[in-house]
Amino acid sequence: MKVVDYKAELQNELQDLAQKNKKIGFVPTMGALHKGHISLIKKSVSENDITVVSVFVNPNQFNDKNDLKNYPRFIDKDVELIKNAGCDFVFTPSVKEIYPKEDNRIFDFGDLNKVMEGKQRNGHFNGVAQVVSKLFNIVKPDVAYFGRKDFQQYVIIKKMVKMLNMSIEIVDCPIVRETDGLAMSSRNLHLTDIQRNNSSLISKTLFKARNLTNKLSVKELKDWVVDAINENPFLDVEYFDIVDDLELKSISNWQENNNKVGCIAVKVGKIRLIDNVNFNL
Ligand code: PAJ
Repeated sequence: MKVVDYKAELQNELQDLAQKNKKIGFVPTMGALHKGHISLIKKSVSENDITVVSVFVNPNQFNDKNDLKNYPRFIDKDVELIKNAGCDFVFTPSVKEIYPKEDNRIFDFGDLNKVMEGKQRNGHFNGVAQVVSKLFNIVKPDVAYFGRKDFQQYVIIKKMVKMLNMSIEIVDCPIVRETDGLAMSSRNLHLTDIQRNNSSLISKTLFKARNLTNKLSVKELKDWVVDAINENPFLDVEYFDIVDDLELKSISNWQENNNKVGCIAVKVGKIRLIDNVNFNL
């Protein structure tokens, strides 16, 4: 496996391989890798000739400078994990390499980035689109892998690829969870033991809620989830919504003919955790 810091070097290597008709899979990450990230890398390795993983903490998607400063960075451990997963190239660019000059592009995603995470984190998805579009232009993958953990991000990247006419297949991968059900996240590292233990109530509540769709209306079920989680003194729900998986519009009844996803964000002290489950009947 090669570790590459410069886009010109990576492009040289990948151009040769693309000319030999090698299928290139790509997994963008911000590092601090856990089994969730590794599952994406392994899927890419199993489905492509060549896998590229990027590790880049993208300043443009953080609206909180402290969050950016405190983002965990373990590059040596990450490189080891990526290598063990069977990857071929790790791309570890500097901020200057990705943003030699300021990126002022504004993406119009319609309502997709105005709801849920977009509402809570102003400019976040615009920054994600800036970096992912740049990385796609450098790597030129055939396929790129995204986790359903960040469900709204996956939907927005699919839309971005369409808007920019990129011929890249976007593949979604299931959420990898801890044994007690908590969705794996680099943010879990910041939880105290007691916060960590109480956080498992989030996914447990979502799973229980899935079995209540024949007993409760959409509104009743949403209230039930929020109340069940807020009863716990360590947890504070920011939002819970059940949306369709294409437009991210709130659904109003179970009979609607679409795929339904229940998305939640919960504050645990200063840490924000997100999760989601399918509500397909
Ligand atoms: P990051 O948070 O490092 O996540 C990289 C990828 O791993 C994303 O597609 C994310 O959804 C996926 N992932 C994280 N936790 C997961 C879990 N428990 N199960 C399955 N997949 C999981 O998402 C980003 O980085 C950035 O926004 C990025 C796309 C790299 C752009 O900067």
